[in-house]
Amino acid sequence: MPNKFKPAKRLSLPGYPFAELERKAAAVRNAGLPLYDLSIGDPDLPPPEFVIDATTQALRDDQSHKYPSSRGDLKVRQSVAKWFKSRFRVDLDPENQVCILIGAKEGLGQLARAVVNPGDIVISPEPGYPVYWRAGCKLVEGNLKSLVLEPENSYLPDIKDLSGAKLVYLNYPNNPTGAVATDNFLQSLADLAEAEPEMTIAYDMAYSEVTFGQPARSILEFTQSAVEFHSLSKMANATGYRVGFAVGDPARIQAMIRMKEETDSGVSLVFQRALAATLDSYKNGTPPPEISSFMDIYRNRKKQLISVLEDRKIEVFDSEATFYVWFRPGGSETEFVEKAIASGVLLTPGTGFGSSCGGWVRASVTCPDEPFEKALDILKSIKL
Ligand SMILES: Cc1ncc(COP(=O)(O)O)c(C=O)c1O
Repeated sequence: MPNKFKPAKRLSLPGYPFAELERKAAAVRNAGLPLYDLSIGDPDLPPPEFVIDATTQALRDDQSHKYPSSRGDLKVRQSVAKWFKSRFRVDLDPENQVCILIGAKEGLGQLARAVVNPGDIVISPEPGYPVYWRAGCKLVEGNLKSLVLEPENSYLPDIKDLSGAKLVYLNYPNNPTGAVATDNFLQSLADLAEAEPEMTIAYDMAYSEVTFGQPARSILEFTQSAVEFHSLSKMANATGYRVGFAVGDPARIQAMIRMKEETDSGVSLVFQRALAATLDSYKNGTPPPEISSFMDIYRNRKKQLISVLEDRKIEVFDSEATFYVWFRPGGSETEFVEKAIASGVLLTPGTGFGSSCGGWVRASVTCPDEPFEKALDILKSIKL
């Protein structure tokens, strides 16, 4: 019998754009040659020991064997509120302003389902995390408006360009560029949120703790009419734990919780406890030495990579945050990435973050020291 199954039309998203690059990477691996992976933002370092201890301990708690609540355990939500107060000096009500998520990614899509009707305008920045335009717009049949951000404006948008949207995704510290938001920008964004109460601002701070200069500030320091996303993934090298949280405007958080109640049963208490242990480890808004030392490692690797690129006169976007290096090698990004693959280094072409990002390439420094050194040697000698 022929299979007549057809997935729903909303699932007809363009496929992953790098099939050809993947084929080339597979050919290098199949030939038994080393391929040093600087393409994925998945930390190579482990979570801090005290986080692993809290997680294993939680596994032995009888409560952990039960269904969790969709919005998250009250004690864990209280840890979020306490952390928020010490880290950003913002008061949050754990009862109605905090929702625990199966990672920030889940929440970014969940918010769209909770606020977007078919045809509503959704703004998604370029370069940007593809989930914004895919789960955040296409899957909910929104009307996509891409917002091209420019290096000349430090990858910050003109506030005027956000007007009239139902949902706006923004992300600072930024993947892939490492750009950070200024206080002036956050103040203008807050003014817009207050002036256009129908608009929802989804402010993605998945990299809030991966900064090497000034600590990143929250949009909630400027307005409470927004939803902000945080994640344990990059904060504690725990992408596999799948836990994050959304905070902000009670009405929007409640709408997300309603949507979650209909579709999932929340995050395992085991990993919620991992989140609480991490947040509780902060003292007066300052991370514990374990987290600071990871950030030092990323900072050093980033410095090393930038110095290799700059020695080769390659333009690098100046950034003091995230474990990504965003650079413009000159010429076609695909050609550069293909050359790098053939020489043994895997990178991400900028066009993976939006069609307007040709010429740019992203490298992630989440690669163990030894292979990272080897990747640097290759990048030093690659023919341009
Ligand atoms: C900008 C941005 N937001 C959110 C996420 C997803 O984070 P999580 O692991 O919490 O789902 C990522 C993951 O790479 C990201 O780059």
